[in-house]
Formats: sequence, C-alpha cells, structure tokens
Amino acid sequence: MAPRMDRRASTGQAEIDRQTQRYRERAVPGARHPERDYPPYRSSESRHPRQPLVALADPEAVELTGPVFGVTDVTDLDHDLTRQHPGEPLGERITVTGRVLDRAGRPVRRQLVEIWQANASGRYAHLRDQHPAPLDPNFTGVGRCLTDDQGRYRFTTVKPGAYPWRNHDNAWRPAHIHFSLFGTAFSQRLITQMYFPGDPLFRYDPIIQSVTDDRVRERLVAAYDHDLSTPEFSLGYRWDIVLDGPAATWTEDGA
Ligand SMILES: [Fe+2]
Repeated sequence: MAPRMDRRASTGQAEIDRQTQRYRERAVPGARHPERDYPPYRSSESRHPRQPLVALADPEAVELTGPVFGVTDVTDLDHDLTRQHPGEPLGERITVTGRVLDRAGRPVRRQLVEIWQANASGRYAHLRDQHPAPLDPNFTGVGRCLTDDQGRYRFTTVKPGAYPWRNHDNAWRPAHIHFSLFGTAFSQRLITQMYFPGDPLFRYDPIIQSVTDDRVRERLVAAYDHDLSTPEFSLGYRWDIVLDGPAATWTEDGA
C-alpha cells in the first residue's frame, strides 16, 4: 500500500513526468534501487533516512528477538483470499502462481510468501485508506503460503483495482499485489509488487517508473497464462520471483 499524502497535492502529472525523466537520465546503469530521496515519489523527501544506516552487527542476535513462524502457522486456507469470510468477494477472480528461484534457477523451497492488496474497487481494508470506494465485507486482502518442493506458490484472489494516492494531482497506482518473501530469517525479508500486463497507468506511475531499466521493470509484470485459467472460475497469471543474480526480481530497499 502506498501511503496517502495528508494534504491535497498541487503538483501535476507533467511536473512528475519531468522529474521522472531527469531521474532516469542520471540513473546509474544497473542500479538496484532508486535513491532514497526520489523526487517524483513526493513523500520520500520527508520519509527517507538522513542518518548513516546502522549495520546489522549480529544477525543471529536479531533473530532471537525477531518474529518467527513455523510450517504449522500457515493453514491450507491462507492462500485463498476468496474464502476468508462467509460470502464471496466481489471482483474478477484470479489465480496467481509462480516459482521462487535462486540465481541458478533452483527452486527455493518452504519459503513463506505473503501478499496484501486492495479489493476489486481499489480500496484497502485499512483505517488510513480514505479512498471513497466501497469496502468489501468479504475481502480482507491478505494471504500467505509456503512454496512447495518446486519453489511454487499459489494464491486465489480477486484482481485488485487501481487507486488514487495523492502523490500529485490525478495520481493513480496501477493495479498491483504486494509480495513479501520471508527468507530464512526476518532480517532477510524482501518486499516487492506484482503488476498486471498492459496496464495503461504504468506510464504515469512514479513508483514503477523508479525502476529505470526496462527489462527489470518488465519482470515486475505478471504474464496472463490461459492454461492457468480455470473454466467457469478464474483467470490465471504467472509470475516468477528470482531472488538474486542478473535476472533478479526488483525488490524494495529495506534500509
Ligand atoms: Fe498498494
């Protein structure tokens, strides 16, 4: 979820486009992350760290006090966001699946994959979401699962709607699903966003445009897979996540 800015923005899309273009022109080729102060994402100016980062001197000590989970914490129903309430959520039912792979293409097994998303109307079930679109009493928008022996995850959900986020006038996020990969410890957690193919909002969204390498940005977009669509039930999208190496999926800077 991108935080809503508290005041009504006055910056227009043209100015955001100019800032994005300037950023892209001086981007370091192959840079993994945008700079922390990334002007087109306006609230990054007031939210990015200004002090030197603190190195994690003893990762094992952090794990002693960090959250833990076990395989028994994840139930068979957690991967199905359409079955968490008495009724079915509104929207276009979809299946999202793919594999979590390391740089050599090997499956990453038993990984905790968590997702969160807006409902079909583009509204999060969150107190701070003030978008005047309807909440869905049958949709919370949170799911999780463990990858199997082939590194596969699988979710059944509804396609999220685009939503406005007040970064600038007429700012709308393309439809997306947030993904978290836990790793083997909390300090390894990676977070990213999956998008849907052909979204006309890509061009206007400073968040996805912050990924300046076209090929890297395209790896954030799932593929529609007709063989994965279930007749009379759901549309299928496939999206693999590569943890590192040249084909790595872009993830948000955790620092
Ligand atoms: Fe979001």
